Amino acid sequence: MRAIVGEIEHTGGVRRERDGRLVRDARRADLPAIVDIYNSAIASRSATADVEPWHADRREGWFADHLPNRRPLWVAVDLMGDVEGWLSFQDFSGGNGYSATAEVRVYVHPRRRRSGVGAQLLDLAVDPTTGLNLRTLLAFVFTTNAPGLALFTARGFEQWGLLRGAATFDDGDIDVSVMGRHIARGATDP
Ligand SMILES: CC(C)(COP(=O)(O)OP(=O)(O)OC[C@H]1O[C@@H](n2cnc3c(N)ncnc32)[C@H](O)[C@@H]1OP(=O)(O)O)[C@@H](O)C(=O)NCCC(=O)NCCS
Repeated sequence: MRAIVGEIEHTGGVRRERDGRLVRDARRADLPAIVDIYNSAIASRSATADVEPWHADRREGWFADHLPNRRPLWVAVDLMGDVEGWLSFQDFSGGNGYSATAEVRVYVHPRRRRSGVGAQLLDLAVDPTTGLNLRTLLAFVFTTNAPGLALFTARGFEQWGLLRGAATFDDGDIDVSVMGRHIARGATDP
């Protein structure tokens, strides 16, 4: 497994790794690239339950819902500033008791896969110093999505549940793995 995590700087909501690509909060100008990456996942029919393509001008509300200090939307950008991938946080469920639990989704541009983008985004998501006050991360991954399951497993997630036939398509149902991982509270808490 690659050693990805370096020292991460926090600069007014912008987060970055020192060596290599930048991970930062998404900006409105990133939305078309974010949507393009997501649409390639929709087209693959293997990584999301969405079947209709997204349009950037209809995702303004979704974008605005991602508050940088609570449920952010991060992008990984290369040295040219091109978006290579993104990771979103969203509430798992209502109720204060769930406030420290979030669902994460991660999508990487098809041409940038297997180069550590997803791992870098997830490593930051599980970093207890991000200030998001999260204790538990969940991801819902199709059991047919080998790269997705491999990524989350490689970053310390385990299968905590199985939602049988939860994703329904014209050509059949797909089981969904509930992948979960705790975030350390401190240096001595695994
Ligand atoms: C899943 C996905 C995000 C992985 O992103 P990525 O940037 O290609 O992953 P990385 O290069 O960081 O890989 C990290 C580790 O994940 C595992 N992994 C990732 N892709 C894999 C694949 N195709 N086959 C096997 N293992 C894989 C490996 O353990 C890898 O470590 P290694 O390269 O040292 O062997 C990417 O394939 C993608 O965008 N898929 C469509 C969206 C999706 O399925 N998201 C998950 C559900 S939200």
